[in-house]
Amino acid sequence: MKFFIDTANLDDIAEAQALGVLDGVTTNPSLMAKEGITGADNILAHYQKICDLVDGDVSAEVISTDFEGMVDEGEMLASLHPQIVVKLPLIADGIKACKYFSDKGIKTNVTLVFSAGQALLAAKAGATYVSPFIGRLDDISTDGLNLIAEIRQIYDNYGFETQILAASVRHTMHVIDCAKLGSDVMTGPLSSIKGLLKHPLTDIGLAKFLADYKKGNS
Ligand code: E4P
Repeated sequence: MKFFIDTANLDDIAEAQALGVLDGVTTNPSLMAKEGITGADNILAHYQKICDLVDGDVSAEVISTDFEGMVDEGEMLASLHPQIVVKLPLIADGIKACKYFSDKGIKTNVTLVFSAGQALLAAKAGATYVSPFIGRLDDISTDGLNLIAEIRQIYDNYGFETQILAASVRHTMHVIDCAKLGSDVMTGPLSSIKGLLKHPLTDIGLAKFLADYKKGNS
């Protein structure tokens, strides 16, 4: 399972990268705005900084909502850096643009996916990644994890190569549940990754080992 970090915060990205378990980064316009990154030039420069920090795929989202605009923007984003993946919204023009980019061998991430039918369309259009938003479904009392299971079944039935990128992951249990369900990738905040480290018995056990070592060597 690949671990992506869902942020535009360079410190968090660097910390996850330093841990040695990071496979990529996802961003969106809200995450950029949260870091105070505004204006096309600053946003493009920020993508460059993110690509310099990590080795894997970096999703950069288009803000156009029409096919021609998405193609222009996506081509410009893809030309920025080989690690850039063009992130497209799941609307009709987004699906058309996904097919356009997949035919050209440019990686895509189809985002804002909330149903199995939408995920089927993204796979048919040749998406590299499909991003079902599990946390936002949970927010409205709908089982986000069930969507991951449905997409896994559909993709496996037909051998679709589109990777399921569980998005809107909010916490560590989401990460574990997505892994159990066979999600190819998860993207979440740094806390969702660091939470995997935690177990009180690890801390207690380590403290005891160190104390016993000190006793034997004093
Ligand atoms: C996915 O690529 C999105 O950036 C993200 O996961 C959305 O998460 P949120 O629902 O926590 O905003």
